[in-house]
Amino acid sequence: RPRTDQHRPRFHLTPEATWMNDPNGLIRHDGAWHAFFQNNPFGSTWGNMSWGHAVSEDLATWTHLPVALPCSETEMIFSGSIVHDAANTSGLGAPGEDGPLVAFYTSAYTPAHATTPGIQAQSIAFSLDGGTTWDFYAENPVLTRDSENFRDPKVFFHPESGRWVMVTVEALDHAVHLHTSADLLTWEPASTVTHPGLDGGIWECPDLLRVQVAGADGAPAREAWVLVISTNPGGPAGGSGTYAVIGDFDGTRFASDTSPVPLDLGQDCYAAVSFSGVDGDPVLLGWMNNWAYAEQTPTAPWRSAMTLPRTLHVEPDADGTLQVIQHVIVPEGLRSVDLDVVDRDAAADGEPLQLDADEPFRLRGTLSPQGARRVVLRFGAGQAQRELVLGLDPEGHVVLDRGRAHLEPFAADHSRSLPYIPRAGVADVAFDLVVDRSCVDLELDGGRALVSQQIFPAAATVAVHVERSA
Ligand code: FRU
Repeated sequence: RPRTDQHRPRFHLTPEATWMNDPNGLIRHDGAWHAFFQNNPFGSTWGNMSWGHAVSEDLATWTHLPVALPCSETEMIFSGSIVHDAANTSGLGAPGEDGPLVAFYTSAYTPAHATTPGIQAQSIAFSLDGGTTWDFYAENPVLTRDSENFRDPKVFFHPESGRWVMVTVEALDHAVHLHTSADLLTWEPASTVTHPGLDGGIWECPDLLRVQVAGADGAPAREAWVLVISTNPGGPAGGSGTYAVIGDFDGTRFASDTSPVPLDLGQDCYAAVSFSGVDGDPVLLGWMNNWAYAEQTPTAPWRSAMTLPRTLHVEPDADGTLQVIQHVIVPEGLRSVDLDVVDRDAAADGEPLQLDADEPFRLRGTLSPQGARRVVLRFGAGQAQRELVLGLDPEGHVVLDRGRAHLEPFAADHSRSLPYIPRAGVADVAFDLVVDRSCVDLELDGGRALVSQQIFPAAATVAVHVERSA
């Protein structure tokens, strides 16, 4: 079997035979989940940026559709979002029909463009058939600042003000620009957001999420807003990565007095944005790769995956500090092992648990300074044996270490996750680990941290060893 299939995950979205980066135009519409994505239809590395398209019924298995928004000689189609204009505020819909889907993307004009080469501006395409076929809007672009780094429009409706809101970045300025509109076509500047705590790289792919803040009983008590920003470099675990800032939004301004927190402690979650058309907790997908090495992952001709989807809300901690809580949406029916039980039964003989590594699996358990300190996944055997280690470091912080997880040398400078520091007074940390061939999604401490990493062990079997403290 070709190596490239050996690495291909089953429940993470991958392109069929080409390059993918950021998720774009995520929307739940008419009962289906649509994921568009940055795609090079002609190659396995970045270029010819267009929007690929896939749909899913269950957020776990995906069906590919033709490229939705193709690039041209003069324009690449950079990242953006889609909204359902149910009331046809844009007038782009057909009279008497359901309102159109309206896609916002960045026109990245190529050197061949006659009037604005090198400029990035926000443009529209629309679909009258629920997202299958798309037309470019004749009056594009709809918003320009004459800038070479103005991009990644995320649009949503704000019912309190009755206006559409567009969130974009000026990537080099470390600034998020907010604009608002009544009709999706004409946009007025509303405000600008900066944050001194986030200056390690350029800013990309912003999102602004309305989230629930859980009360003491766990039920939603009030709302907050979370600004999501990706930075490259300056990511939590090196290279590119994603951050969240909790605050408030009044339809015009986002205000926050908190520091950014990593959305993911691993290397492989970038450009994470939410689906539109979702009631309740926002659902996000991230690009499961890192600009530090994205074009070198050993999977050609297809390259890159999306993370598993994750929900996001906010909860106050014991001292009232607001925490971002995320839950991985784990595919139903995944083979699942409770390691606490296995560990208890196996503690006497220390026999590892043997699994078929081709089949995705889920391991749940507890890391504890006095008990199971490390869970070691040993892939394959002999010379080719590789390992992924989830464990407590000497300070009792949780680290996912893929330094010896790849068959061929890969991303040597990017092996350890940023450590998760347990809450004060809580030494044991629950974990929920999904391994879908090359894609690892880890949830820690009831969703207080997520860790996404790619691994390339290329082995058919895995032995799970629980290593206890002496
Ligand atoms: C983020 C990004 C976006 C841009 C797209 C181009 O990974 O650089 O800012 O729109 O990728 O492919």
